[in-house]
Amino acid sequence: MSAEGQAKGPKTGRVEMRDIVKCFPGVTANDGVCLDIEPGEVHALLGENGAGKSTLMRQLYGMYQPDGGQILVDGKSLSFRSPADAIRAGIGMIHQHFMLVPTMTVAQNVALGQRSPRAPFLDLGGVSKAISKIGEDYGLKVDPETFVWQLSVGEQQRVEIIKALYRGAGLIILDEPTAVLTPQEVDALFATLRTLVASGHSLIFISHKLNEVKAISDRVTVLRDGRVVGTGRTCDLTRGDLVRMMVGREVKEPDPRPHAPGPELVRIAGARAMGDRGIEALRGIDLSIRSGEILGLAGVSGNGQKELAECLAGMRSLTEGSVIVEGHDMTRATVNERFEAGMAFIPEERMRDGAIREFSVGENVFLHDHMSKRFRRWIFLAFDTMREHARTLVSQFAVKTPSLDVPIKNLSGGNIQKLIMARELSRQPFFLVAAQPTRGVDIGATEYIHDCLLEQREKGMAILLVSEDLDELRSLSDRIAVMYEGGVMGIVERGEASVEELGFMMAGVSLEELRAGAATEESACP
Ligand SMILES: Nc1ncnc2c1ncn2[C@@H]1O[C@H](COP(=O)(O)OP(=O)(O)O)[C@@H](O)[C@H]1O
Ligand SMILES: [Mg+2]
Repeated sequence: MSAEGQAKGPKTGRVEMRDIVKCFPGVTANDGVCLDIEPGEVHALLGENGAGKSTLMRQLYGMYQPDGGQILVDGKSLSFRSPADAIRAGIGMIHQHFMLVPTMTVAQNVALGQRSPRAPFLDLGGVSKAISKIGEDYGLKVDPETFVWQLSVGEQQRVEIIKALYRGAGLIILDEPTAVLTPQEVDALFATLRTLVASGHSLIFISHKLNEVKAISDRVTVLRDGRVVGTGRTCDLTRGDLVRMMVGREVKEPDPRPHAPGPELVRIAGARAMGDRGIEALRGIDLSIRSGEILGLAGVSGNGQKELAECLAGMRSLTEGSVIVEGHDMTRATVNERFEAGMAFIPEERMRDGAIREFSVGENVFLHDHMSKRFRRWIFLAFDTMREHARTLVSQFAVKTPSLDVPIKNLSGGNIQKLIMARELSRQPFFLVAAQPTRGVDIGATEYIHDCLLEQREKGMAILLVSEDLDELRSLSDRIAVMYEGGVMGIVERGEASVEELGFMMAGVSLEELRAGAATEESACP
C-alpha cells in the first residue's frame, strides 16, 4: 500500500450542512443547524459545552446519522453511513479523545483499516515512509516505529492528524484539539494548522476559547443549545460579541470582596512525597491556609501541584512531614476520615477520581455519602430521600441534565464539574482542595464555579485552588504560592504579584532572589 491519498493532495470541495436535526433521548442536540465550509478556510465552531458541536461534527464524519436535514459536498447530497463514507468524501476528524491503539506502533495505527483489495498485504515500510513525508511537509514530527503508549498526548494528536492526512482528508475536523495541550504544544499545533491551510486544506476548529478562535479562524459559527446563534467573519466580531452569542448574556469577571481571613485552619509542614515515576515530587512543602482564604497554587504542570493535591485528598501518602487540619493530625487519615473531618476535594482527573462514568447522575451524587446516616434507614438506603437530595443539588447548581437517571458520561464537562462541586459543597466542608476546577469547562460553568468558590470563601472556608490559569489565580486568590520542582518558590499577597514575577517563580527563581533584583535586572536587557 502506498501513500496514494496523500499524494493526490486535498480534494474536498464546498461542504454544506443544511437544517440538521439530531435528537437523543430527552435532548435535541442539533435543532436545524446550517453550516457551510468553503475550501481552504478555517471555520471555527464556537459554543459552550453541550451546545451540540461534537454531535454536529459526528454527523459530518458519518458516526451518527441525522434525524433530519442534508449534507452536501460540492452541491451533491451525500449520506454517510459510517466514517469510511466520510473519509471517501475527503473528510477527516480528530476526536477529543484519541482513538489510537496503545499497543501498536504509529505506523500500524495509521495503516489500521486501510487494507484494500488492491493491496491485500500491509506494506508497513511504505506507510512509515509516508508518515515521515507527511511529518516533514506539515511539521508533524513522530517516529513511525514508536509504540503509541510511549507518546505524549501532544504526539498522539499528531498521529491522529497524520492518519487523517494519510487517508486523503481535504477537510479536517478538530474537536477541541487544544484542551489537552500545553501552551507550547498549542503553538506547534497552530503552526501545523497554518501549513495545512496554506496547502489547500479546509479546517473546522472546535473550541470554546475565544483567543484561539480569534487567532486561527477565518469565519466562526456560534452554537447555543443546539442552534446557530450567528455566523460571520472572525475579524468582524469582537471577543465581547462572541461571548454574548455563546452564553446569551454578559459575563462578569470574578471580583472577590475584600475581607480579612480568619485563623489558620490548615497547616502543611515539611511535606515530602514520591511521584509516579519514582522521583521525589514534593521536596518539603510548607503552607498554611486560613479560614476565609483562597490560597492559589500556581506552577507549570508537573511541578508537584497534582501530587500535593493527591496527598491532601488521601490518595497519595507523604514520606515525611505533616498535614494538620483544625488542630487534628490528618497526615495518615483515610479518605473517609478526611471526609468526616470536613475536607472536600475537586480532583484534577474528574472522570477518574471524581465520578464513575457508567453511573447515573443521581448515583454519582452519592459516591461518598451512601454510608452517611442522613441517607440510611436502619440498614437500608433511603432512596427517596437520596433522590430528593440529588434533585435539589441538580437544580441549585444548575446542572444541565435530562434526568437523574442518565449516565454521567453523557453530560458535558462543565455540568459534570458543577455536579461534583455540588456534591462536595453539600457536605458543608471547611477545607476544600480544588484542583484545576475549570479546566476544560465552558465560560458559563467557569463563572458559576468561581462564584461558588468566592461564596464559600466569604462563609469562612479555607480553599486551596490549584490552577495553571494565571488569570484565574490572580482574580480569585488572597495569596498565591508558586511551585517549582516540588518546592515553593514564594508566596505573594493578592494584587502584589505581577504576571512577570509569577512567571519567574514558575521557572524556578525564588521570591527572595527576585526581590533582591537579580533576575529582573537580567530581563531588562532584551
Ligand atoms: N451519545 C449521546 N447520547 C445522549 N445524549 C448525548 C450524546 N451525545 C451528546 N449528547 C447530548 O447532546 C447535547 C450536545 O452534546 P455535544 O454535541 O457533545 O456538545 P458539545 O460538543 O458542544 O459540548 C448535550 O446535551 C449532550 O448531553
Ligand atoms: Mg464536544
